[in-house]
Parts: sequence; structure tokens; C-alpha cells
Amino acid sequence: MKTLGYYNGKFGELDEMTVPMNDRVCWFGDGVYDAGPARNYKIFAIDEHIDRFFNSARLLDMKMPVTKQELKDLLQEMVNKMDTGNLFVYYQLTRGTGIRNHVFTEGPGNLWIMLKPAEISDGMKPIKLISTEDTRFFHCNIKTLNLIPSVMAAEKAKKAGADETVFYRPGGRVTECAHSNCHIIKDGKLITAPTDNLILPGIARAHLIRMCKKLEIPVSETPYTLDEMYNADEVLVTSSSNLCLHANELDGRPVGGKAPELLEKIRAALIDEFTEATAI
Ligand SMILES: Cc1ncc(COP(=O)(O)O)c(C=O)c1O
Repeated sequence: MKTLGYYNGKFGELDEMTVPMNDRVCWFGDGVYDAGPARNYKIFAIDEHIDRFFNSARLLDMKMPVTKQELKDLLQEMVNKMDTGNLFVYYQLTRGTGIRNHVFTEGPGNLWIMLKPAEISDGMKPIKLISTEDTRFFHCNIKTLNLIPSVMAAEKAKKAGADETVFYRPGGRVTECAHSNCHIIKDGKLITAPTDNLILPGIARAHLIRMCKKLEIPVSETPYTLDEMYNADEVLVTSSSNLCLHANELDGRPVGGKAPELLEKIRAALIDEFTEATAI
């Protein structure tokens, strides 16, 4: 299969799949999701993603129709059907099916899965960033489907010829990016926003922090500002789709480039970790 979809027990190529109009996702965007890469038919960091997926559902009082192990087995079964083993593995839970009504629908949610070919960047090429005010809500720790500000920000980056948008709250505190976490290196230390309700606790972020600690690079999980990002030694952007990117431009101004050896040590270690975990 080139792409593969799943909806409550039905499988098919994505463009052949249909879903009921009364799925609450159509009326309210009422759902949560998670996603990560596979390489060589091996899904990377799957337990961490499934734990976060179940946690997102729990925080919104949504009922999973499967156990963690059942979901893991189903995802692997689907990955095995694909033409390539290098994939984006995406799954979401929506809060059931029912005529439009804000109050919850009874019973377990609807499980969706989507697989499409994808490659992980080795992070060698620097990226360009723009910034925009973070106008999102205060539930950014939950991986919900309510992504309009992120969609707007991603499009804004594209139109500006950039790759990602950095969000900052009033006062200048950097939270994260439209679809990634961001971090700075200053004076040999990694500084990254704390995991409160303003950011998604990224799996790639967790890997970055663990790797820095392993490499004996100090880590500070504290708020930092856009000004600090402009003046950082390096600016890092992480997500499961692109494990460790770095920026050389922010809002048209040059950034980073002042700690290339440290950056390379971290980048290489993270890519090695991924390559080893997904080796044949
Ligand atoms: C808003 C946001 N922050 C951070 C991330 C990175 O999370 P992860 O490293 O788990 O992919 C994502 C990824 O989708 C995201 O959408």
C-alpha cells in the first residue's frame, strides 16, 4: 500500500476512506492525536507516543476503544502492509458519533489511523524561522485537533519563505513553534520552555533533554524570551518528524551559528539514536 487509513475497524487507501458526518470531529474538532516516524518498518519511540496519546484522551475524558498493547499491535500490523518502511504514523481519537450537541456522546471514541511515506531530515541544513504572537488557548499540553492557530502560523511561515513559526506570548516569552518545540543554547547550556499548559511536551524534546544530560550538557527548563532567542548561540527546533533542526535566521535576522561544535554533537547523537533504534 502507498498510504493506508483505518477507521473503527475499516482499512483502505486514504483517498478511498470515508467517515460519518456525525463524527464529533466534524462539528467540534473534538479529538486528540499523536504521531511519529517509522524507519525500516520500525516505529520510533512508540511507547512514549502511545503513553502521551492515552494521556491526552484521559485529560479530555475520552474513552479509548483499545488498550495500549492493542493499538501498538494494530499500528505495527498496518506498517507491515506498506510499500515502504519509512513512514509518518498518525493516529487520532475522536469523541464518538452523534447529532451535533456540545455535551459528550456516550461510549468509546472513534479510532483513526493514517500512514504515509516520510523521511526524517538529518538536520544538517539550517532552517529559517519567523515569529508571531501565540494566540492559542491554555491547553497546549494536550495534543488536540484544534490546530487553527498552528495552521495559520505554518502558512505564514511558508508565505515568508520560512520553515517554521516561533510562538511568543504577550511579554515576549517563547512557548514553542507551530508544529515543533524550540530551544536555545547559551553559554554551553540548553534552555527550553518548561512543560506547563503553554507547550506540548514533545517526545523529540524529551529525547533532546535526555541526550544533553547524557552528553553532560547542562539543561535548564525555564521560560525564555524572543530577545534571548535572537541573541542565542544556537537555536534548535525539534519534532518527531524532524528530530533536531537548527535555525540560522529568525524574522529575517541571522541567529545562532555561535556554538557549531556543541550543536553538531547533539544533532549527531540524536540522529544516531534514531538510526540505531530503527536499524534492520
Ligand atoms: C505544537 C507542537 N509542539 C511540539 C511538537 C513536537 O512534538 P513531538 O516531538 O512529540 O513530535 C508538535 C508536533 O506535532 C506540535 O504540534
